[in-house]
Amino acid sequence: MIETASQTDALPGTGEERAPATPFHFEAEAGPELFAGAGSTPPSDARLNPAYFERIPLLEITEATLARGRLLHPEYYQKHGKFFIAEAGTYRGRGLLSVLEVAKKVNTNVYVYALDSFEGLPPLSARDSETAPENASYRKRTLFADVTEREVHAYIGPAHKPNYELVKGFFCDTLPTLPKIKYLMAIIDCDLYSSHMDCMEYFYNRLLPGGVMFFDDYHSSHYPMAKIAVDEFLASRPEKLMHVGYGTPKGNNVKTYIVKS
Ligand SMILES: C[S@@+](CC[C@H](N)C(=O)[O-])C[C@H]1O[C@@H](n2cnc3c(N)ncnc32)[C@H](O)[C@@H]1O
Repeated sequence: MIETASQTDALPGTGEERAPATPFHFEAEAGPELFAGAGSTPPSDARLNPAYFERIPLLEITEATLARGRLLHPEYYQKHGKFFIAEAGTYRGRGLLSVLEVAKKVNTNVYVYALDSFEGLPPLSARDSETAPENASYRKRTLFADVTEREVHAYIGPAHKPNYELVKGFFCDTLPTLPKIKYLMAIIDCDLYSSHMDCMEYFYNRLLPGGVMFFDDYHSSHYPMAKIAVDEFLASRPEKLMHVGYGTPKGNNVKTYIVKS
């Protein structure tokens, strides 16, 4: 476990203050026993809510990954003038805006390919149907269909326009259309088994050494297929899955990532 100091500065792009919280990173299967005494400050005011804690790992990992990219790949950065990042599962753009704001804050140019159907989750694959909880809402209706690209552009704002593009369509159709480039970071936030597999298979070999694949849903009880997919994919690969969480280890507060060898 690596502990860093608590912070109280502003959260990029949210207008919210960063709440004091003790981060905990660890390299292991996450189980309740690992959280005991691992910096789980109980919420004591309105800012310390689980939804808020859930966003901190992406901010922190993005910042660390950009710093590592500058250290390990200065020639790549100089040649392209930027690092490439992919986000698989953008929805309304909250994660996308966080990444763009972090990059701006640390003075590192990025270009983000933000992939989403913008029509919601695809139909469940056989594997997803087997695994989804009986009462999962996405068995009955299409989640995340209530957004348009125009709304995402409006949310992100014109200042970031040169630094990202929305790639609309199902991953199986859009991944093959992406340019042949190396990525510093791939953010996988797409809930389902088949979606995870499509993205991991595409991005793993296209990550720069020291680059990161970040998994938003590994600890989600609503989408248990995310963990199944990630574990299956990593079983034959050398990278170790890292877990990072802030605040109380509840719900989907703990996120996971690998650093590419
Ligand atoms: C949880 S949301 C993403 C949330 C977003 N990253 C954020 O920060 O708010 C998951 C998104 O993944 C998209 N998605 C999942 N599987 C997909 C697929 N195979 N092709 C395209 N989009 C997919 C859904 O449309 C949905 O918008």
